[in-house]
Amino acid sequence: MSAQGRQQTTDLLPEQVRAEIDKWIAKYPPDRQASAVMAALRIVQEENGGWLTPELMDAVARYLDMPPVSVYEVATFYSMYEHRPVGRHKVCVCDSISCMLNGSGKLLAHLEEKLGVKPGEVTPDGRFSFKKVECLGACVDAPVVMIGRKYYEKLTPAALDKLLSELD
Ligand code: FES
Repeated sequence: MSAQGRQQTTDLLPEQVRAEIDKWIAKYPPDRQASAVMAALRIVQEENGGWLTPELMDAVARYLDMPPVSVYEVATFYSMYEHRPVGRHKVCVCDSISCMLNGSGKLLAHLEEKLGVKPGEVTPDGRFSFKKVECLGACVDAPVVMIGRKYYEKLTPAALDKLLSELD
């Protein structure tokens, strides 16, 4: 890595972020630091208020000595990574088959009407954003919504309203 690249990486990834990534790198064999890419992206995203910029993805690529495109592939494949600003509470509505058959469409339409924004947009007060995601792996309790890191199952629009009203 060039001195300039090293400086940019240090500027974009503060010391505590690098320390967190290093813990993940240490879980893998030497020269396999690329295996920490998912954790690194999550850590960097959290530090940046919930979303990734191209500059941050490039910094992760430099830090893990990976081709940038390999980092972009991961960051754009998984729905847990965001590429534009998100609300303080990110509401992920599963819209895969079990949830779709059990009312996820109603939840999505309800959110759009209640929040006044479309999927991927942030409410004017910065409180919420919502998105459609693929199977969250809890199909037996469909429809499923993830808010932050918590799952909420068998939701109706009224139950979702109650949940949202309890958030700051
Ligand atoms: S289909 Fe929604 S959790 Fe699997």
